[in-house]
Amino acid sequence: MIRRKLVAGNWKMNGNRAALSELVAIAAAARPDVDVAIAVPATLIIPAVASVPRLAIGGEDVHPADHGAHTGCISAAMLKDAGATFSVIGHSERRSDCGETDAEVRAKAEALHRHGLAAILCIGETLADRQSGRAVEMVVRQLIGSLPSQAAPDWLSIAYEPVWAIGTGHTPTATEVVEMHGAIRATLRDLIGGDAAVVRLLYGGSVTADNAAQLLHAGDVDGALVGGASLTAATFVPIMNAAQPANAGAGRFSRAQQNNAVDHVIAAQA
Ligand code: 13P
Repeated sequence: MIRRKLVAGNWKMNGNRAALSELVAIAAAARPDVDVAIAVPATLIIPAVASVPRLAIGGEDVHPADHGAHTGCISAAMLKDAGATFSVIGHSERRSDCGETDAEVRAKAEALHRHGLAAILCIGETLADRQSGRAVEMVVRQLIGSLPSQAAPDWLSIAYEPVWAIGTGHTPTATEVVEMHGAIRATLRDLIGGDAAVVRLLYGGSVTADNAAQLLHAGDVDGALVGGASLTAATFVPIMNAAQPANAGAGRFSRAQQNNAVDHVIAAQA
């Protein structure tokens, strides 16, 4: 099964309107063979969509409810109204900062789906889990707990982000990533059957230009979720380029082909 690579950025609590020029440069570098998406802070969704209308812009979180008395929260309907096509959910920083549970993450995924938005659902073990030999067990448990009903590859991607690799400069070996993605794929197969073969599995945690090629072309890795290195085109575009299939040559695509690439975003379902 050939799955298109997806290179997604997560700006976290970084960036302002002046930084939108980075998105313009990222969109200009998009190639036909790789999907690109960037999750930005809520304050930047509307200006980002206006600046790069052909790039997939997403939120970093969503509330499970459609509206109501939830001060400071943003609903899927609001994300959609702002022009977002997806959201990151279940990021470990939200699980630890805000105490999000698997059940809440599942409800967030379902809210996105109700409003026609795609989801990048994050799971990952802590250092203690890995050191105690329970990494696979913990990640599989998180996946089972947070996988939404109606999970399907046209609106859902899974990001495996080991907590200990985020922002630390440390990464698992390619072998460890392959082992974990294999466990995730097998669990998906049990839960959603044949659709599991099409769900994209992203790796996230200290992805840079230096390690992207090795991680992105490891078995069962369909892309990356990139934090720090997604903040500038200079650091992100090399990761996009590293995701290209081996036979794709940089710099030989027409403008029409490039536009085609950004159309193949992790688009919301039709
Ligand atoms: P870093 O790439 O900065 O390690 O962050 C990864 C991440 O958390 C993406 O969601």
